[in-house]
Amino acid sequence: MAKVEGMSSILGSIINDIIYSPLNLVLLALCIFLLYKLFFSRKTDIPSSPPIPQLPAMKKRDMTLEELRKYDGQNEEGRVCVAVNGKVFDVTKGKRFYGPGGPYSSFAGRDATRCLATFSVEVTSEGYDDLSDLNSMQMDSVREWEIQFQERYHYVGRLLKPNEEPTDYSDEEDASQDQSTVDPQSNTQSSKKDY
Ligand code: HEM
Repeated sequence: MAKVEGMSSILGSIINDIIYSPLNLVLLALCIFLLYKLFFSRKTDIPSSPPIPQLPAMKKRDMTLEELRKYDGQNEEGRVCVAVNGKVFDVTKGKRFYGPGGPYSSFAGRDATRCLATFSVEVTSEGYDDLSDLNSMQMDSVREWEIQFQERYHYVGRLLKPNEEPTDYSDEEDASQDQSTVDPQSNTQSSKKDY
């Protein structure tokens, strides 16, 4: 009996904390909104949402912010790219998150680093963001997100700082093409991965 009363008083104090703190209320509303977008809208959108495009892997290339903006999922081929900590990823296979109507569509074609560090879905900076004001905890969180993106998505290239020159990756491409042509051991051609 005492255990049940203890449990309900803990539950009561958690509910009070949420109700009486405006910040907690905002966070709760954000959670409910994102959960709705992730699960409920996914079910109702199925008949109308276009299928996730199976696109060939992008050639390795560095991009400026302006070039990145073109990959917002609204372009002809529907490709979506997102930059995290100076790296551009092709996140097209995660289009239900980043594509139009997705919970993180604001990241599409943008540098999402500051948002990921500050737990926000609203991209505020328009120009290049050097992230120099982020604290060490936020930078740790950025690096964790970067690892997660690296594990899930195809790395396209670096996000260029203003006036920074892109790297020429043609040598790397030649090398990978050489490897992807006829393999003398198996005499088969290796296939290209789709994203
Ligand atoms: C506060 C409420 C939030 C809830 C309940 C929530 C829920 C989720 C869930 C369930 C997933 C995994 C979906 C799946 O794999 O099917 C997810 C992924 C993700 N969330 Fe959230 N989220 C919240 C807030 C945020 C915020 C504020 C951000 C922005 C910083 C964010 C960024 C992401 C990203 C980038 C992914 C990974 C998508 C991918 O795999 O590419 N989330 N979220």
